[in-house]
Amino acid sequence: MKKGKKITILGTGNVGATIAYTLAIDGMASEILLIDINDKKAKGEAMDIFQGTPFCAPVNIHAGDYEEAVDSDVVIVTVGLARKPGQTRIDLAQANVNIIKSVMPQITRYAPDAIYVVVSNPVDIITYAILKNTNLSENQVFGSGTMLDSARLRSRLAEHVGLNSKNIHAYVFGEHGDTSMIPWSLTTIAGMEMSKYCTYICDQNNRCGKTELKEIEEDVRTAGAQVIALKGATFYAIALSVRRICECILRDTDSVMTVSAMIHNQYGINDVCLSLPFVVGAQGIRRAVVPPLTKDEEDLLHKSADALKQVISQLKI
Ligand code: LAC
Repeated sequence: MKKGKKITILGTGNVGATIAYTLAIDGMASEILLIDINDKKAKGEAMDIFQGTPFCAPVNIHAGDYEEAVDSDVVIVTVGLARKPGQTRIDLAQANVNIIKSVMPQITRYAPDAIYVVVSNPVDIITYAILKNTNLSENQVFGSGTMLDSARLRSRLAEHVGLNSKNIHAYVFGEHGDTSMIPWSLTTIAGMEMSKYCTYICDQNNRCGKTELKEIEEDVRTAGAQVIALKGATFYAIALSVRRICECILRDTDSVMTVSAMIHNQYGINDVCLSLPFVVGAQGIRRAVVPPLTKDEEDLLHKSADALKQVISQLKI
């Protein structure tokens, strides 16, 4: 019998294991199930975390098989090859689509009603492939998308203007990858349009011009690759992003988050998964938020959608 909230994590590589650890510390789930094709690795990760649970909220964390995923509230998908130094997320596309196609029938059989949070890269393509290959509904499946990129932007801007990142609202839209874009017109600092804040208040005066914004944009877009070049992988920040997503689902918070979901005519874009602001709660995606963008921003978003569609057209989905 299930006692509280149950989360299943597929894949216990660096990302899956760090998500498990982050969720265990957080205490929002009473059961965490780890599934990996390498069952020894899944077991080892579960044991390692379980042995620390006297120091955090009690959680039944264990490794197991697909049939144990029955009654999961959330399934987090991290299976697949990880990005190596120099690789783009798109380089992984066909190999990870193939892995996903073999894994999904096994998990959906036992957890047909869970909310699926997709983390495997290229996340927009994998989310799309899951929707095309399963009977899961569109509200039920979405990718972590640019949640992480938006966090990277907020932390980078916070550093730039010398404020706490909680006082900064800023988003990255589009692909979680090379064609992501920043809708600067939606960026607010301390409740003000960023341009106003930078003109009238910021003591870093003259440091928020076009050149600086371009630098910040490039830094955010290459942030993952920079970490991979330094330490071979990224896993802490993505794990914290996924923890936040799980919190919004399990606590039904109706928060606006930039996650990757199927697009239906937002800005005239269709039949692709990419990140825009969506309201997320217990049922997964509740609705899309479609803020007005400038013409240039819309053009960049279209470019991102076209790039993803181009990749999709070359794959066997
Ligand atoms: C990153 C991986 C999760 O951007 O794509 O760190």
